[in-house]
Amino acid sequence: MTEITIRRPDDWHLHLRDGAMLEGVIGDTSRHFGRAIIMPNLVPPVVTTADARAYRDRIVKAIPAGDRFEPLMTLYLTEHTSADDVEEGKKSGLITAVKLYPAGATTNSHGGVRDMDKAMPVLERMAKIGLPLCVHGEVTTPEVDIFDREAVFIETVLDPLRKRLPELKVTMEHVTTQDGVDYIRAAEKNLAGSITTHHLIINRNAILVGGIKPHYYCLPVAKREHHRVALRKAATSGDARFFLGTDSAPHIDPLKECGCGCAGIYTSINTMSCLAHVFEEDGALDRLEAFASLNGPAWYGLSPNAETITLIKRDEPVAFPKKIETGAGPVTVFDPMFPLHWDVA
Ligand code: DOR
Ligand code: ZN
Repeated sequence: MTEITIRRPDDWHLHLRDGAMLEGVIGDTSRHFGRAIIMPNLVPPVVTTADARAYRDRIVKAIPAGDRFEPLMTLYLTEHTSADDVEEGKKSGLITAVKLYPAGATTNSHGGVRDMDKAMPVLERMAKIGLPLCVHGEVTTPEVDIFDREAVFIETVLDPLRKRLPELKVTMEHVTTQDGVDYIRAAEKNLAGSITTHHLIINRNAILVGGIKPHYYCLPVAKREHHRVALRKAATSGDARFFLGTDSAPHIDPLKECGCGCAGIYTSINTMSCLAHVFEEDGALDRLEAFASLNGPAWYGLSPNAETITLIKRDEPVAFPKKIETGAGPVTVFDPMFPLHWDVA
């Protein structure tokens, strides 16, 4: 097959940032994607419905003329979040989900949740009104090895929470392990998982072999090869509980290439090309649409996009830039380490 047409995809986990960075990156998403769930970990974070409304306005202003793109807003859960404000956000149609960052788990997560009990009133209200919780599924306990943080989170935080509140809809974001895949597969209801582009392509060797490669560092960190293979199987299986959330997370190069580099990989610009490659390699091109365009909206109770996009396999590799220039500084583009022949027409 050298051409495939699918419903326009959506990105169910995206960092757009703000200001000059937002302006520099948004076009790479709005060119291909109809909608995206926008992460709230700005500085300061998007905590209230009023914050989300103002942020949404800034995003809409930055969309390049001619692109049709809908940002789906989230709130950053804190121990002081008001259940009434969350409900108001959902009722007004502005808020699609609430995001749980365990405090200290990742970029700008220090205002996140330390004690789950303190978040219970909000979580109970969300279960009642049918508002999904998106989770960054890693514990931050210093004794837990960074490569085990997802598995330990499932056992010690997520599973107890789901037993306590079975009606709460939970998206396990950026699943990186076989454990995560198995846990989602075993759930009877109210649990789904997003998978990033890069976790389908790299394992931890990409970060550590032949020198430290900061542009492959993200959180949750890429794991062993057998975990990557499990993610590939889940994504390409067509199972409706798995869908695309790129976690494309731009940082300027000086903040990646330094003594304490930021976590995040920028994939918005070449995600669809990477995914077509991955799905073709696994003999699953016919399931790319489910993963990128159908399963996500079904989970969030939305219709798939009405428009389509066409991917064409070119003889010559597509020339993506190594870096994009933004008003905030240069951002390195994800290099999958193989030539990309699939192009969005
Ligand atoms: O790699 C990551 N970067 N993981 C996250 O969870 C946050 C993100 C960011 O905001 O930079
Ligand atoms: Zn993220």
